[in-house]
Amino acid sequence: MKLEPTAEQKALLVEAACQVRRWSYSPYSHYPVGAALLTTSGKVYDGVNVENASFPLANCAERTAIFKAVSQGEKDFLAIAVVTENAGSPCGACRQVMAEFGLDTLVIIADSAGKIRLETTVAELLPGAFTPADLPH
Ligand code: THU
Repeated sequence: MKLEPTAEQKALLVEAACQVRRWSYSPYSHYPVGAALLTTSGKVYDGVNVENASFPLANCAERTAIFKAVSQGEKDFLAIAVVTENAGSPCGACRQVMAEFGLDTLVIIADSAGKIRLETTVAELLPGAFTPADLPH
């Protein structure tokens, strides 16, 4: 059975995602996003969106956090918090990247005041996800 993060862990994640938002590099959209990812080992990896003058090269906060974690050898995730001004929802690309590492991961969506607006799962955000299990080899 998958571990559930405690209320305290959820609050810490939201706080971490709120704090890291200040490092967002978003001079084009002016839409700073912060994410914080909790691993089963108890570590937190944060991330921000990083935009580029070549617009399509922007990397979302969620993927930044996930790639940081995976780069450190972590790929078992309990929860990810995403904070934007208006509690915006993770984009499709981020949902797919989250799905790679587990459909049960809790996704906590909060606004910049730190108010949790939605708690959901990757499975709910991406029904019928294409996952590693779909590949024959
Ligand atoms: N963005 C994220 O960081 N995460 C999402 O899931 C949605 C969009 C970023 C990308 C871009 O830098 C800005 O928000 C506006 O789209």
